[in-house]
Amino acid sequence: KQLDQFPKDFLWGSASAAYQVEGAWNEAGKGISVWDEFVRIPGKTFKGTNGDVAVDHYHRYKEDVALMKEQGLKAYRFSVAWTRIFPNGRGEINQAGLQFYINLVDELIKNQIEPVLTLYHWDLPQVLQDEYQGWESRKIVEDFTNYATVLFEAFRGKVKYWVSLNEQNIFISHGYLMASHPPAVSDPKRMYQANHYANLANASVIKKFHEMGMPGGIGPSFAYGPNYALDSDPKNVLAAEDSEDLNAHFWMDVYLFGKYPIAAMKMLNEQGLAPTIEVGDEELLAAGKPDFLGINYYQTNTVVFNPLDGVGLGKMNTTGEKGSTEESGLPGVFKRVENPFVERTNWDWEIDPEGLRIGLRRITSRYRIPVLITENGLGEYDKLTDDKEIHDDYRIDYLNRHVHAIREAITDGVDVLGYCTWSYTDLLSWLNGYQKRYGFVYVEQDEKQDGSLNRYKKDSFYWYQKIIQENGSNV
Ligand code: FCB
Repeated sequence: KQLDQFPKDFLWGSASAAYQVEGAWNEAGKGISVWDEFVRIPGKTFKGTNGDVAVDHYHRYKEDVALMKEQGLKAYRFSVAWTRIFPNGRGEINQAGLQFYINLVDELIKNQIEPVLTLYHWDLPQVLQDEYQGWESRKIVEDFTNYATVLFEAFRGKVKYWVSLNEQNIFISHGYLMASHPPAVSDPKRMYQANHYANLANASVIKKFHEMGMPGGIGPSFAYGPNYALDSDPKNVLAAEDSEDLNAHFWMDVYLFGKYPIAAMKMLNEQGLAPTIEVGDEELLAAGKPDFLGINYYQTNTVVFNPLDGVGLGKMNTTGEKGSTEESGLPGVFKRVENPFVERTNWDWEIDPEGLRIGLRRITSRYRIPVLITENGLGEYDKLTDDKEIHDDYRIDYLNRHVHAIREAITDGVDVLGYCTWSYTDLLSWLNGYQKRYGFVYVEQDEKQDGSLNRYKKDSFYWYQKIIQENGSNV
């Protein structure tokens, strides 16, 4: 393997999620998801924005794929809405819903774009939430596995890259601790238990994938923010180790080793928060080993020791869509602080390309597994000029620095399969409507949700086109 360049078959990609792009929220037999319900609760999202129409990808997927083709994109990561396949979470397959994804996948393949299919990007069928509290029940394992199996059968051989759960650490912490995502619970004990069932569900679909002898590979997408100590005060260095254990190894070790990290479990036991693990669970976790690890990278996490009278777990740091710089952490252990050495975006997210290289190296030395970067990107208030152009040089700069960091990580020996930027077109931000844009393709849509939905190529579209043509050789 040549370590001084991007591999020839490197997947230069871009990503989206069903709820954020599709719209058509109640078409062709689709059921209601927890997000369809949540956005209707007053005050939950910016000006009540929702995914009813989103950017109408459901009807415009051909136009979107044509743009990808023009750009030269090698891979497109998208998610399937569980509620299109099973409107009630299980039972009879809704063929019309499945057909949409068959059409999309065929269109991608016809245009030589590798589909990367995410099974779950947060839009749980509402019925399963009502019936047994969704992720808070063991029953989710069977239902999720059945749903995944339908997709494995439908796309065997056509889809080679599969993502099991998108950002389990985020949908669990935001859903059960910060209460900013459905089901808007704030209870750390319940959070860790729901997380345990999510681990089982994840392992179960990966095991099933392998049992079915599926061609290609599968892995979860983890939102990894590598942890730094603010300085070399040993107390702070230990705090950073603890944060890495509780905020990162706590998921990645389970995925790759089938075991929770010992020190993190000790912290949780001391606080009475550890999940109940039943006989057989550890066997299942160990039997669902991913083929690659998906990483969503946005920023790092700088911490100091948090004295016992410090802030509580109620504000644990994650990379949600709201500002994530508030001081937070476990009392007696760590709390997050601002990193004085890095710049910040207008949405107050730290810009730290070297953090990506550091994170990739940590993953490689601990797990020795190929990595697919499944998300990375810059959220900004893009402006359409009178000539219908978008001069997003700030995004080009951001992405260029991250691509460079990946290249450096490859020279360090990291096995990187590909890079999917977030996002392809502009799309609905879960909580922030259309103010915060990430795409290469601008979409005319705003909080009134009656925009023209016209697509316009941003300057970054052409920048990435060139990167792909040159296979990253000039970054
Ligand atoms: C990640 C999500 C993705 C998007 C980006 C900005 O947490 O996976 O859907 O919202 O953040």
